[in-house]
Amino acid sequence: MHWLLPAILSLLGPCCPQASGAPPYDSVLTVPNGGPWGSWGQMQFCPSGYAKGFELKVQPYQGFWLFGDDTALNGIRLLCTDGTVVESSVGCWGNWTEAQVCSSNKLVSFSLRVERWQYLSDNTAVNNVRFTCSNGTQLEGWGLAGGHYGPWSGNCTSGAICGLQTKVQQPQRKWDNTALNDMRVFCCQ
Ligand SMILES: *[C@@H]1O[C@H](CO)[C@@H](O)[C@H](O)[C@H]1NC(C)=O
Ligand SMILES: *[C@@H]1O[C@H](CO)[C@@H](O)[C@H](O)[C@H]1NC(C)=O
Ligand SMILES: *[C@@H]1O[C@H](CO)[C@@H](O)[C@H](O)[C@H]1NC(C)=O
Repeated sequence: MHWLLPAILSLLGPCCPQASGAPPYDSVLTVPNGGPWGSWGQMQFCPSGYAKGFELKVQPYQGFWLFGDDTALNGIRLLCTDGTVVESSVGCWGNWTEAQVCSSNKLVSFSLRVERWQYLSDNTAVNNVRFTCSNGTQLEGWGLAGGHYGPWSGNCTSGAICGLQTKVQQPQRKWDNTALNDMRVFCCQ
């Protein structure tokens, strides 16, 4: 019977608490003015450290809406202190713009510039993003000017932003695409 004991122990697993049960973050920051369309992509995290900067994927203004369908903001990437670049769901239009970086510190909050639903017009949802650095400086992305900035998210109370999740509308058969609609970020110690 002695051969059974190791088999039973291995079924019970290691004696230490399983790290995989705990989420890899301390808190989630959200804003109330995201757009209604699309579905959430995967949560993505800096492998170590924090986010110290970001870059945006922006489709330039397409002209009068009967001729071109605007989507404005299509993607948000976080630049991590360990040199990694992470992104969640990204729309298919536009190009990545120049990075905005907090020189010697980290990102701790954000807000979204969102266009409200347009009756009989071209919807774009999120147009731009700004983040606050841990030293209080605000960085604004190279997005578009549609809509208005909503309230700031909460701040990471300790540590800083270390991951993100974006909500993106997949391409529509009809003409009115909006691409990026909302974002959440995660704070780590
Ligand atoms: C955006 O990217 C596309 C495809 O990579 C390229 O063809 C286009 O010239 C770029 N537009 C700008 C404004 O850089
Ligand atoms: C805070 O960080 C920003 C962005 O890196 C920098 O431009 C600014 O000089 C810093 N402010 C202070 C007071 O250190
Ligand atoms: C976040 O921090 C800034 C200063 O860095 C402060 O003005 C703001 O009120 C804080 N926001 C919340 C929700 O606590």
